Amino acid sequence: MTRLGILISGRGSNLRALLEAAARGELGAEAAVVVSNVAAAPGLAHAAAFGVPQVTVPHDGLAREEHEGAVLRVLSEHGVGLLCLAGYMRLLSGAFVRRLPGRILNVHPSLLPAFPGRDAVRQAWSHGVKVTGATVHIVDETLDGGPIILQEAVPVLDTDGVDELAARTLAAEHRVYPRAVRLLASGRVRLEGRRVRAEAPCR
Ligand code: GRF
Repeated sequence: MTRLGILISGRGSNLRALLEAAARGELGAEAAVVVSNVAAAPGLAHAAAFGVPQVTVPHDGLAREEHEGAVLRVLSEHGVGLLCLAGYMRLLSGAFVRRLPGRILNVHPSLLPAFPGRDAVRQAWSHGVKVTGATVHIVDETLDGGPIILQEAVPVLDTDGVDELAARTLAAEHRVYPRAVRLLASGRVRLEGRRVRAEAPCR
């Protein structure tokens, strides 16, 4: 079974959604290790609750290559074949991405390519779009620009403030991320240019 690594920096609600799906047998992958660059990340509690090994690799005082090298060693020690970024607040270098080509996923709170980068929900709300959503994509060397695996649309209501929209968007992330992992882990995915095609529908 595909062994999943999950990188976090903070709250870890997407991590929790992935671990819950794995526990229900819906992920087609087993959680092998959770890595945080922040020792106090609240999300580490979810790893503990699900009995998944957790490792903190602090980045303070380390050059990026040194930190990424340490993270890669942990992933390799745990036999990770698929890596999920779940609120991981550091950009990965091209050298890191090339070590796991097409095997690093990220979830983003907008319908990419709209509103990449930080504060995506606020960007969408401020822009006044009527539909936004959640995107899971393959990580490449661009910021939030890699091939899109799955998206879920989220309506923007006239009564929404940023907080209401953020909550609705996060709930969509929690649904779409496990589905995307299951799809990738199943091996039923073909990459054609930057188009990700599933060989059979994924529900
Ligand atoms: C999510 O909105 C994710 O898309 C973004 O950061 C947030 C992390 O939330 N990259 P959580 O830590 O998974 O709760």
